[in-house]
Amino acid sequence: MRVIGLMSGTSYDAIDAAAADLSLDGDGLVLKPLGMVSEAYDEELREALAAALPPGVTSAAEVCRLDTGIGQAFAAAAVRADREVCRGEAELVASHGQTVYHWADGGEVRGTLQLGQPAWIAEATGLPVVADFRPRDIAAGGQGAPLVSLVDLLWLRGRPGTPVALNLGGIANVTAPDGTAFDTGPACALIDAAARGFSGGALAHDVDGALAARGTVHEPLLRRLLDEPYYALPAPKTTGKELFHLGYLRDALAGFTTLRAEDVIATLTMLTARTVADAVGALNATEVIASGGGTRNPVLMAMLGQRLPGTAVRTSDELGLPWNAKEAYAFAVLGFLTAHGLPGTHPASTGARHARVLGSITPGREGLRLPPPGARPPRRLVVA
Ligand SMILES: Nc1ncnc2c1ncn2[C@@H]1O[C@H](COP(=O)(O)OP(=O)(O)O)[C@@H](O)[C@H]1O
Ligand SMILES: [Mg+2]
Repeated sequence: MRVIGLMSGTSYDAIDAAAADLSLDGDGLVLKPLGMVSEAYDEELREALAAALPPGVTSAAEVCRLDTGIGQAFAAAAVRADREVCRGEAELVASHGQTVYHWADGGEVRGTLQLGQPAWIAEATGLPVVADFRPRDIAAGGQGAPLVSLVDLLWLRGRPGTPVALNLGGIANVTAPDGTAFDTGPACALIDAAARGFSGGALAHDVDGALAARGTVHEPLLRRLLDEPYYALPAPKTTGKELFHLGYLRDALAGFTTLRAEDVIATLTMLTARTVADAVGALNATEVIASGGGTRNPVLMAMLGQRLPGTAVRTSDELGLPWNAKEAYAFAVLGFLTAHGLPGTHPASTGARHARVLGSITPGREGLRLPPPGARPPRRLVVA
């Protein structure tokens, strides 16, 4: 089955659309990567989204406008992926949507909201769309995240040692072979906020780590940032830009007004490296398989490598899934599982009481035709 996975993460920089040919073969799920396209959000939509996200406040009218605008943008990315990657032969779309709120109350998650109305995607592509993956896991007592953990587990099963999957998006998350999976804290979220803030919006991120490379880590600021209670919470735990946003950074910088932008960004880059390395170290990882835009920041990757001596740090590309498409491929897999009536979660990862079939399905042009039920859950993911 040819499936297009659509993903936009907490950085809301772009919609990544990855197409895979997926099939069940014995206890294996075979994934043949077909390719990906990435569609940047247009500036107007991105600004409207930024204004609505915490700590901003919004209205039902604005949420409706965003749901439509994001749905149409996701639809355009899906149409492009179908045309350019699948030659018009895609069969299913799996859309993560754009998280606008993840409602965590103490250690408990009570709700989550992803926008990007799937009707627009179904209408534009004619294909059935699986969307709204997270709420079912929350209703089953889970955190609704990290959902890619099941895919990571299937993918890394059988590798020697203790391989840990790491995604460096706006937020960083890890998956270990025993199913432990959690968000470690910010990956690029605070670095991006600082780069935008200091450049008056001219820079969306610290391109190639250039600013961090010219700065010096400021130990007192780093200590203050590391005092954040989230890092000490036990797993399972999830976080997001509800916590790690520009206002959070401003508060942390109070009293450090004389610091240069470069030094702040070097310190924030070290914050990510420290918190990720501490989490990965506690999992006794022998190998880290990294993906996400943060892998493009050589200063971050060098700091991470230094703090993980004896641990091989590779990118997901070495295992066949490109760094910029891995998450979108993971959602293609989750959509495929849903279409086959198979669970998409690993309860040890999300804290749910049970593994559940995830999502809601919007029928395509030909109504809803699903594969026959009764398939056995795969035990491994084989990237062909
Ligand atoms: N060349 C680069 N140099 C430094 N950082 C980069 C580069 N390219 C991407 N990034 C970082 O990656 C982030 C986007 O990563 P992505 O995996 O798409 O995250 P998300 O899933 O949150 O959207 C950007 O916001 C930026 O911080
Ligand atoms: Mg992104």
